[in-house]
Amino acid sequence: MAPNSLTLSPSIDLPLSVKPPTQTSHSLPLLPFRTLNSPYSPRKFKRKPTLAASVSRSNAVSEQVIQSDTNQTSLSSSKLVLVVGGTGGVGQLVVASLLDRNIRARLLLRNPEKAITLFGEQDEEKLQVRQGDTRNPEDLDPSIFEGVTHAICCTGTTAFPSKRWDGDNTPERTDWEGVRNLVSALPSSLKRIILVSSVGVTKFNELPWSIMNLFGVLKYKKMGEDFVRNSGLPYTIIRPGRLTDGPYTSYDLNTLLQATAGERRAVVIGQGDKLVGEVSRLVVAEACVQALDIDFTQGQIYEINSVQGEGPGKDPRKWEQLFKAATSN
Ligand SMILES: NC(=O)c1ccc[n+]([C@@H]2O[C@H](COP(=O)([O-])OP(=O)(O)OC[C@H]3O[C@@H](n4cnc5c(N)ncnc54)[C@H](OP(=O)(O)O)[C@@H]3O)[C@@H](O)[C@H]2O)c1
Repeated sequence: MAPNSLTLSPSIDLPLSVKPPTQTSHSLPLLPFRTLNSPYSPRKFKRKPTLAASVSRSNAVSEQVIQSDTNQTSLSSSKLVLVVGGTGGVGQLVVASLLDRNIRARLLLRNPEKAITLFGEQDEEKLQVRQGDTRNPEDLDPSIFEGVTHAICCTGTTAFPSKRWDGDNTPERTDWEGVRNLVSALPSSLKRIILVSSVGVTKFNELPWSIMNLFGVLKYKKMGEDFVRNSGLPYTIIRPGRLTDGPYTSYDLNTLLQATAGERRAVVIGQGDKLVGEVSRLVVAEACVQALDIDFTQGQIYEINSVQGEGPGKDPRKWEQLFKAATSN
C-alpha cells in the first residue's frame, strides 16, 4: 500500500474518524443557507477541472486508476437515482460511480455544501442536491422525489456512542426511523430501492453479534429492512460485512474515481445471513449500482464480502453471474 494511503476505517462497532477537508473548502463557493424544512434548490454544478487538480492527494487510497468500461460522454440513461447518504463512505463511491457512468443523480444530504467539496461543480442536469435529514418526515418534501426512478440508501451512524450521534443521530433514529421515513416518502412508481444494511441483522441476539448490537444497530437495521420489504416497493437489500477502504477524506471526485479495492477485489455474495468477513466500500458501492440493472435481484437480500483476488470490476456480466450464483429463487 502506498505510504500516503488512508488508514482503513474502523469496523461498524467503532466510531469512525473522518478527517475534515483540509485543502479546498476555503476556495469553494458556499451555498446559501436554507432551513431544513425547505427542499434544497437545484444547484448548477459545472465541471471545474482545476478544482480537482488543486486538491492534495495526501489522503488518496491508491494511485492505481480503475479504468471504467462504462465511460460515456453524454447522459445515456433515463435513470434519475436518488442517493441518500451520498457523503458517506459507500455513498460517495456510489455517487462517483453514477457520475462516471453519466447516470443522473440527486443527492439528499443534511449538509449540501459537502456535495461541492466532494464532487466538484457538476452540471445540474447530472447532479442535483436537496437538503434533508431522514429523521424529519417534514424534510422529505414530495418535490425531492419528483422524477426519481431509483433510490440507493446508504445512510448510517456508528454502532456505539460517538460524535456522530450528536443531535440524537443514533442507530434507532437513523437506521430505523430515517429509513422508515424515507421509504414512506418514496413514490410508488419507483423502479428499485437499494438499501445498504449489514450482515448479522438476523442474529443480533447471538454472540458475537449481540456485542455489536449493544446499542441496537443491528436490530434497528433489521427493522429498516423489514419496512422496505413490506413497503410494496421493488427492493434489493445489500448487507455488507465489515467495511474497509475509505471514506476517502481528500474529498475530491478524481480521488473517488481512482479509488481501488486494493487487493480485496474478488467478490463473495451470499444469502441467509451466513457470510462473515470484510468488504471494500468500493465493492459495496459497485454492487448497489450494478443491482439496479439486474432484474432478478429485485425482492432479494444479499450479503457481500470481498477477498483478495481478481474481481468483477465494473463488468455487468460478471456481476450478474455473481448475483445469479447467490440467488436461491
Ligand atoms: N462500518 C462498517 O464496518 C459497516 C458494516 C456493515 C454495514 N455498514 C453500513 O453500511 C452503510 C455505509 O457505511 P459507511 O461507513 O460507508 O457510511 P458512513 O460513512 O457512516 O456514512 C453515513 C452517511 O449517512 C448520512 N446520514 C447519517 N444520518 C443521516 C440522517 N439522519 N439523514 C440523512 N443522512 C444521514 C451521513 O451524512 P452526513 O454527511 O450528514 O453525516 C453519511 O452520508 C451504513 O448503513 C453502515 O451502517 C457499515
